[in-house]
Amino acid sequence: MLDCYMRGFAQACKGHPLGWYALDIFAGVGLNISKTTGAEIPGSALIALQAKSPFAQRVMLCEYSPRIILALTARILPYGDRARVFVGDANARIGEMLAPLPQTAPTFAFLDPEGSELAWTTVEAIARHKEGRSQYRVEQLILLPTDMGFVRMLPISGEPDEASAEKLTRMYGHDRWRKIYQRRRSGKITPDQARTEYVELYAQGLRDLGYAPDSAATGARTPSARTSTPASSRTDGAVPTSIGRLRATTSLAPKPPVPVAAS
Ligand SMILES: C[S@@+](CC[C@H](N)C(=O)[O-])C[C@H]1O[C@@H](n2cnc3c(N)ncnc32)[C@H](O)[C@@H]1O
Repeated sequence: MLDCYMRGFAQACKGHPLGWYALDIFAGVGLNISKTTGAEIPGSALIALQAKSPFAQRVMLCEYSPRIILALTARILPYGDRARVFVGDANARIGEMLAPLPQTAPTFAFLDPEGSELAWTTVEAIARHKEGRSQYRVEQLILLPTDMGFVRMLPISGEPDEASAEKLTRMYGHDRWRKIYQRRRSGKITPDQARTEYVELYAQGLRDLGYAPDSAATGARTPSARTSTPASSRTDGAVPTSIGRLRATTSLAPKPPVPVAAS
């Protein structure tokens, strides 16, 4: 899916004098292996670096885990200056990642957290990057991990712990998720309905930022089907901002880190 989006984005940006830029702020190891076939499958960082034509001018990557950083750094070496890696919490480093990106250039951001670690302030910072400089916004493709991610932090018997509740509030940028949770706990809505409402609540946040979210594209079951992208909420590329559930990684295992070249 990402490959398809990125290639489409690259092609839509063909002819732009500044070229295009990418952000992959939960980058992972760069390469995965299929549990079933053993085949190597490029991760998001390599997909972004290989997407064409044209190639992205620069791909800003971020990864939190020191062990994963070793593998990622080794795998992106062949791409030279086009790849830049940031180590640490993407939410804390998003300003540094955005700063070098021209505010008038087409830019694609891929946000692929495992759970609730994507802060709403990060989505907002990306959304506002081009404000006042361009009629377009940075394109954001967000994989919102519901069942395997944040929904399991919300027990049906008993309250969520304080830390989990804080994480969810940070992810949404508000605590209106609690209303859905209470209706789910009291049995007024099914797990499926709750999931749909959690996604829809997130989508509303994107609308409030001026995006036209397209959750149909990734299979999230929301009541609102594909929405068109009005001129006032246009993003850079040919496709609207999408949200959905994390899917592909359930059948993928990270390939063990490759050793960093020794002399
Ligand atoms: C779902 S995986 C990414 C998979 C990758 N996008 C791919 O397609 O192969 C999420 C990654 O984000 C990293 N991560 C988790 N929290 C983070 C944070 N706050 N900042 C940066 N990276 C983080 C994890 O270590 C993990 O490697």
